[in-house]
Amino acid sequence: MAVVIDGAEIARRVKERVASGVAELEKEKGVKACLSVILVGDDPASISYVTGKEKALAEAGMADRSVRLPADVSQEELLALIAELNEDDSVHGILVQLPLPGHIDSRKVIMAIKPEKDVDGFHPVNLGNMVIGSRSFLPCTPHGVIKLLREMEIPTDGADVVIVGRSNIVGKPLSILLSRRDYNSTVTLCHTGTRNLADITRRADILIAAVGRPGFITADMVKPGAVIIDVGTTRVPSTATKSGWKLKGDVDFDNVAPKCSYITPVPGGVGPMTICSLMRNTLLAAKRAIYTL
Ligand code: GUN
Repeated sequence: MAVVIDGAEIARRVKERVASGVAELEKEKGVKACLSVILVGDDPASISYVTGKEKALAEAGMADRSVRLPADVSQEELLALIAELNEDDSVHGILVQLPLPGHIDSRKVIMAIKPEKDVDGFHPVNLGNMVIGSRSFLPCTPHGVIKLLREMEIPTDGADVVIVGRSNIVGKPLSILLSRRDYNSTVTLCHTGTRNLADITRRADILIAAVGRPGFITADMVKPGAVIIDVGTTRVPSTATKSGWKLKGDVDFDNVAPKCSYITPVPGGVGPMTICSLMRNTLLAAKRAIYTL
């Protein structure tokens, strides 16, 4: 049976370190690291993510300048708010929760955020700098996955890593980061066009699932002893919970866990690490703004 990686516990330890950094910055410079999370509309999943981020901000002792806008807010109004926050020196990070309603062009919105405040790491300047290994903000989920591997002392050097899912937020950036010299993995990025997927996933020392399809990775797709990282978080109906739904990962946990060495659960695996990375990026943004490092 695999070791079930306790992402919530690792995240708690990392958040403590971030909180000390926040307190130190405030003591030395009198400045509170501050994040503005912008939520448009009332998508229940987005509300719950944003609530989690706000809770983490409070725990880390950061200032919270979050803004909630109605679903029918115009693109111009949203862009005007971002322009205002860009110019506000007391705000160090800006995050616009995705997805946005259909009448708003997400790319334009992401491009409007100053790269120095783009703590999501989604702006093309940050993505480009990440690719060439220059200073940037790393996207939070990929960074959270790497942090989890590091904290669990799971070696990545020379490892065969297979990532399933090529999203701009997770799969693509993670493939670039893990093939950096610091992590030194051999990465295969699989997607819907991949032929003989199971043949490829069975070669993985570390298998990362980020497709958003509950239970997609089955036991026959896993090499015995592999490390399994599940990034999927899909809401599925459940009679066992008060809300009527529960989160389910991309991995068929019950059948895969007996076969592998380490596995992340959903919830409580990668999710808490993503929020940690956001806190870390916000502290970094505040320090860079203050010390102009
Ligand atoms: N929606 C789902 N994940 C994310 C994320 O990491 N950042 C933002 N801004 N929106 C999201």
